[in-house]
Order: sequence, then C-alpha cells, then structure tokens
Amino acid sequence: MRVCVVAGARPNFMKIAPVVRALTTRGISAGIVHTGQHYDERMSDAFFRELDIPQPFANLEAGAGTPISQTAEIMKRFEPVLVADRPDWVVVVGDVNSTVAAAMVASKLGVRLAHVEAGLRSFDRTMPEELNRIVTDALSDRLFASEPCAVANLQREGIDESRVFLVGNVMIDTLQANLERARAARAHARFDLEPGEFALATLHRPSNVDVRANLVSILSAIEYAAKRIPVLLPLHPRTRKRMEEFGLSQSIGGGRVKIVEPLGYLDTIGLIDKARLVLTDSGGVQEETTYLRVPCITLRDNTERPITVEIGSSRLVGSRYEAIVAAIDAAMSGPNRVGTVPPIWDGRAAERIAENLAAV
Ligand code: UD1
Repeated sequence: MRVCVVAGARPNFMKIAPVVRALTTRGISAGIVHTGQHYDERMSDAFFRELDIPQPFANLEAGAGTPISQTAEIMKRFEPVLVADRPDWVVVVGDVNSTVAAAMVASKLGVRLAHVEAGLRSFDRTMPEELNRIVTDALSDRLFASEPCAVANLQREGIDESRVFLVGNVMIDTLQANLERARAARAHARFDLEPGEFALATLHRPSNVDVRANLVSILSAIEYAAKRIPVLLPLHPRTRKRMEEFGLSQSIGGGRVKIVEPLGYLDTIGLIDKARLVLTDSGGVQEETTYLRVPCITLRDNTERPITVEIGSSRLVGSRYEAIVAAIDAAMSGPNRVGTVPPIWDGRAAERIAENLAAV
C-alpha cells in the first residue's frame, strides 16, 4: 500500500511527523508532498529537521496569495503530481488552505481521502479554516477525530458514522515524543527567562491581526501583562507585516515584552512547559497548554476545540482589552497548573490511524 501525505503550513508539520512514522513502521510506503504554503526556514524547514520528517518527494512551491488564489494554485500544482503518483490514499491534516486544496484534488481524481483532525467546528464561517474543515470532511472517505465533540459534529452533518474514528490527537503524539528533548534544550534560559516567571504570547489570526483596533487592543493587553511578568512574543510573519502596515512600533512594554522571530518546535514546547501563563489565538497551542496544564488565555471568541475549555486549561476571552486584562489578573492569582488532560490524548493516535488504514 502507498500513501501520499500532504502538508503545507506550520501547524501541519508536527501533525504529519507521527503519522508518517507510524505508517512506515507498518511497512506502508508514505511519501510527503509539501505544498509550499509556508516557505520561510523558520516556518517550515526547521520543523522537518527538528522532527526528523523525511524530505517531501514533491514541493509545489505555491507560496503566498489571497486565500482563493493560494488554494487554487495548490490545486493546479497538486493535480499532475497526484496523477503521476496514484497512491492508494491521500492523507491530509488540520484545516489550512493546503488541506482543502489537496482534498479537492484527491476526491476529483478518485483517490481515497483520509482527514486527520476531522470534525472540529468553531461554527464561525468568517474564519477561513472553518470552510476548509467543512469541505474537507464532506469529501473524506475516512475521518479521524481527536475529541468526542468532533464525532458528534460529523454525526450532526449526516456523515456516515462507519467512516468516522475517534483516534486521539496526533499533535499530542508529537508533544509526548519530544517533551524531554524540548526540556533539555532550555529555551527559557536563552531568552533570560526564569522558569514559571514569564508569559508566552502568540498571535496570528486574521480576525485579530488584520483589524488595526483588535491588534492594538491585544498588544496593549500584552503590555499590561508585562507590568506583572516578562512576556516573550515570537512574531508570526503575518503579524509582523500588519504591525508595519499599521505603523505600530515593535518595541513595546518598555523592554519587558521581548519580540523575537518565529520559534522552532522544541523551543515552543519548552517555553510553553515553563511558562506561568500563555496568551494565544492558536488552536494548536490551546491543545499543547491543555496537555501541559498551563493556564491559557485564548484570544478568540470561539473555539473549534471545546475540550480545551471544558476540561483543559484554556479560557476564551476574545480581543477586548478589558476582558484580556481581567483574565491575566485571574490567571496570575490562580494556580500554576490547571485543568485535566483528555484521556484519549495518550500519544497513540498515529498508531491507530496507521492500523486503521492498513486494515482495508
Ligand atoms: C495559516 C493557516 C492558519 C494557521 C497558520 C499558522 C490558512 C487559511 N491559515 O495562516 O490556519 O493557523 O497558517 O501559521 O491556511 N508568510 C511568510 N512566510 C511564510 C509563510 C507566510 O512571510 O513562510 C507570510 C506571507 O506574507 C503570507 C502571510 O504570512 O501572505 C500569511 O500566510 P498564510 O499561509 O496565507 O496564512 P497564515 O496566516 O500563516
């Protein structure tokens, strides 16, 4: 059996790593196609290196663009690659533009499609990822869910339950496998931060960074946090671009907000693990803080990952200054570790996926 695994953007890479490994361990040939949606060394190559992901057999080099032109470009470039490769399965992960583009091509060419991280829904169709999730799931022959709520969402949408499998969270597989390495790398020390005495902030969602008022409100709240605790803010390229366009200074918080380039995987995990508090609008970071039980202030009004709020360590606060500040105060006076880890996040999701695909 041959499987083609597609990845394109930063949050895809830590998800494909355990899947490719589990398939290969079972003797299934797994070739990777990189769409090129993310292309900076720090947004892509660094993850392949750190996580020892095999080199892609094709790079579509689709690059940046409007969401529609980017998706269309990936589709156009993936078609001839898939026609030539003709695998038994295409596996896509997550909810980025590369995911839906590859899903469309596989389906139209009649290649069986499996979606890892199926069924998540924010119920907010203004969020680009939500449309990607709905379309990808509707097209998939096999749907692998990371939390029970995702299974319920798919049932509600009328997706045949014989195609849906609750397997756990591949992102947590990678976290578990690399946590000791991440701790040994001691990223906090390189940034002159004391364990348990700093906050980590990440910010990149269009709804937060493409709207000047929202970006100003969140950066002001980060400056407020910095009065209480030093803050490290690795800046996503989209956010850096917007700050420049909006004329916002990148030196904020009087030296107590350290703005740095995007971090690699091990440093990110190591810093989350040692943080007193995380402020983020990333879905993946919400899951990682839940696993590590680190208090997480989520800068969004909704989440497609409700388990991180219901039993995990995440609290939804949106982008309003007052709400974020109140959440910072509450977290700083609360315990260092909060919430519980979902039982199915046991580090074996990729094995279950490989076993499932190998069975038929
Ligand atoms: C994408 C995903 C989002 C994910 C995020 C993680 C979609 C719809 N969005 O958003 O779900 O959470 O990745 O990073 O697929 N850029 C660079 N270098 C790079 C990559 C991007 O400079 O290596 C710049 C480009 O100017 C680009 C902008 O960042 O226009 C946005 O990149 P894009 O892939 O369109 O979306 P993200 O905001 O990264």
